[in-house]
Amino acid sequence: MQKNSAITLFGGSGDLTYRKLLPALYNLESTGKLSDDFKIIAIGRRDYSCDQYLEIAQRWIETYARKKFDSVVFNKFKKRVIYFKMDVSDVEEYYRLQQFYDNQGINHHIYYYAVAPSLFIPITNGLKKYSATNQAKVIIEKPFGEDLASATQLNTTLAQFFGQDEIYHIDHYLGKEMIQNIISLRANNIIFKEIWNNKCIESIQISASESEGVGTRAGYYDKSGALKDMVQNHLFQVLSIVVMDNPEGDFATEQLKVFNRLCAVSDYSKEVVRGQYAGYLAETNISPQSQTETFVALKLFVENDRFSGVPIYIKTGKKLKHRETQLAIKFRQVGNSLPNSLIIKIQPDEGVNFKFNIKKPGTITELQQVSMDFCQSCVLENRINTPEAYERLLYACMNDDRSLFSRWDQIVASWKFANEISAKFDQIPLEVYEQGSEGPESAIAMTEWIV
Ligand code: BG6
Repeated sequence: MQKNSAITLFGGSGDLTYRKLLPALYNLESTGKLSDDFKIIAIGRRDYSCDQYLEIAQRWIETYARKKFDSVVFNKFKKRVIYFKMDVSDVEEYYRLQQFYDNQGINHHIYYYAVAPSLFIPITNGLKKYSATNQAKVIIEKPFGEDLASATQLNTTLAQFFGQDEIYHIDHYLGKEMIQNIISLRANNIIFKEIWNNKCIESIQISASESEGVGTRAGYYDKSGALKDMVQNHLFQVLSIVVMDNPEGDFATEQLKVFNRLCAVSDYSKEVVRGQYAGYLAETNISPQSQTETFVALKLFVENDRFSGVPIYIKTGKKLKHRETQLAIKFRQVGNSLPNSLIIKIQPDEGVNFKFNIKKPGTITELQQVSMDFCQSCVLENRINTPEAYERLLYACMNDDRSLFSRWDQIVASWKFANEISAKFDQIPLEVYEQGSEGPESAIAMTEWIV
């Protein structure tokens, strides 16, 4: 970590900062990972004094930080945090911001854009106009643009101030413990390593169910929808890790190869399902005629040597029965036995479950399916000692470690594919599903989902 450095949180009084970023920074404080002179600048429009802001921040940290709240640690943390009020869309305000940095002696920066995507360009323009230094990295939240064209425009604007190596595209799924574990599991167990291919694997399923609705993010979400909000980034990242040819090779390059080989099925109307939860149209800030999907399921293929011909099913949605994210691998059947399956539970439970066939006791040939379970999150120590995704990623950025961030060329490839699918959305009916259900009927019928 550089001397005289700071992280500036644009969107300092927003949900992401309160729920994820401040708790993550507090965890880094409590594990001694922040250097003494490191500052945290929270930028917001509201008229808070620093003390008022810290009072609010404390409540979120108490609720969301994995480390138990400790007043000694918090007192140290408090001294780093400065609330700075400004209108980030006004370019001239950045003059005042620069004066503030000068007064604080801050000249190495991490800027965190925890704001609506429409503000990414105004903020960059403001920094470009008045910043006294280009010792700056930027962490930028997804979605990066609304499609390939707007992503390219955004990338060009960012490049006028930040070098390509200073742009950290954050995808917090890459920081999740069990997603990182997919590689370890593939690479370090001969029984999985040797059978991780289309000869032995029949299909792959990735599902991310959420029980919450759009909440306070309706304005953004209604323009985005499930495909752009979850699939184009988070779930494609997971997919790339599962199917990459060489998990021991250069990670980002291997991921890119997967994104370049994504293939949709030819009949979109059968293999892509769009849904909207009942009541969505009545939510605040949602257009009453909205056709935005809060659920999407699709079947696709990755035409690399390893997985050519293996169907991959992805589904995600809001206001579903349970919050549960998992990856399931269905292996090919041997004779009349049931197929083996491997489930990697990503959240909220973290663990691995393997189902296999065994003889039913007392019979000669009758088979039954049984399972072996490993529950990582059942161990309290694991829960407390495992860095959360944002904590891990913030720390990586502070240390110039780009390995867990998405690369621009990956974003281009994943947008191309997502755009290809969204261009067909008018051929796909929007099915209304009940809140608290499993999602639209046609998605349930798409394949035999492994639970
Ligand atoms: C965000 C999406 O990137 O990820 C949200 O914008 C979604 O809509 C969230 O709820 C899911 O993250 P997690 O970590 O709760 O699975």
